[in-house]
Amino acid sequence: MVAAGATATGAWRDHTVKVDATGLAADSWYWYRFRLGDAISPVGRTRTTASPGSTVDRLRMGVVSCSNWQAGHFTAYRHLAATDDLDLVVHLGDYLYEYAPGEFQARDVVIRPHDPPVEMTTLEHYRRRHAQYKSDPDLRALHALVPFVITWDDHESANDAWSGGAENHTEPDEGVWSERRAASQQAYAEWMPVRYEPGGRLYRRFTFGSLAELSMLDLRTYRSQQAAHPLDPAISDPARTITGAEQLRWLRSGLLTANAQWKLIGNPVMIAPVRFPATLSTAELHALSQLTGPLEGVPYNVDQWDGYTADRAELFGALRDNGVTDTVFLTGDIHSAWAADLPADPLGYPLNGNSVGAELVCASVTSDNLDDLLRVPPRTASLAAETAIRVANPHIKHVELDSHGFSVLEVSPRQVRMDWFQLADRTDPESAARLAVSFAVLAGTQRVRRVSGTPLP
Ligand SMILES: [Fe+2]
Repeated sequence: MVAAGATATGAWRDHTVKVDATGLAADSWYWYRFRLGDAISPVGRTRTTASPGSTVDRLRMGVVSCSNWQAGHFTAYRHLAATDDLDLVVHLGDYLYEYAPGEFQARDVVIRPHDPPVEMTTLEHYRRRHAQYKSDPDLRALHALVPFVITWDDHESANDAWSGGAENHTEPDEGVWSERRAASQQAYAEWMPVRYEPGGRLYRRFTFGSLAELSMLDLRTYRSQQAAHPLDPAISDPARTITGAEQLRWLRSGLLTANAQWKLIGNPVMIAPVRFPATLSTAELHALSQLTGPLEGVPYNVDQWDGYTADRAELFGALRDNGVTDTVFLTGDIHSAWAADLPADPLGYPLNGNSVGAELVCASVTSDNLDDLLRVPPRTASLAAETAIRVANPHIKHVELDSHGFSVLEVSPRQVRMDWFQLADRTDPESAARLAVSFAVLAGTQRVRRVSGTPLP
């Protein structure tokens, strides 16, 4: 035993306990447990990061997002727990959803109803919903096995949240936004494994020796309101922001001065520019717009970095002008699998636009995606949409709009590789998972390329 201590909890923090264990050795596994009287908790395991500058040959992490209780079972977490040699799990947001039963589930079927059975708007609602998600046995087992590095997206508070409100927030019926957001932040601080206090800073950086740094972003707290329309000139207005000025400065300077080789970014919404082609049918465009935000037949998803192009141009320009290499965005939110190069100039790509990095996007653990929204069998309507998107966006090397599951990212000095695992059936608690596809970014290339897969874990 290397450390022990006592701590207090109570109704003031929803009877949760959080201990920031200090004085631990770097790059080591630790086990922990809690006692209350004669009761002893299950044993949990965690891992400390390697010291900056130390040699790390390999890092393996689960990458997940969009785990909607009502849309299925968290079988993806069970398969992740069975994956060999994971050092950590990165959850990119939409860890839980705010909706009432009947508002957002598996197509039209509530697989497991939310508790409380209302849209969460108050502190009591947010606390009960967090408690419900933490009752899932697969999620609990994964938390007990490896450390989670998390950030939030919108549904931890309300759909399409921004600094002054949310699409799914109506004043005055649902109270004042600042109070609702504060309630969501308090429950998050109580229940989630993160050094965060309400009103504080969630974005932060982890270092894994000389191999990698991981910058986790908060793209909800400081962002300007989403543009009303995809053709709204506001999308390129430099006065609007998705990061906030301070976070963008922090990210930019971190990427430019990083001592580690790989610059990984935990990025809640897609940064690759995506133009949706006019060849898609009205139904496909309508379903894509439900997946991605307002669309109306034109190129932009205004809830992603595509709706805040000045911030993206500043970031990509800084990477290009300073010759920064080996930058990889790890992304969630969009309930589909993508791999893309990141051209500073997408219109000229690949003729005159060099890529400044790569983006790897994991599918949803359970949340509805394109075939679900279209109410069609998988691998039917989506095939045409995927082909059309790739043709209209030559920097996008992979897009798959139907599957649910998880990704495993392996980082080595030679390459960063993501393996996408698909669930056979998100509504089946015993669902199998299979390796679908793998893409890698070779060091120094700033390009994704398809590589052969590996056997099932
Ligand atoms: Fe989501």
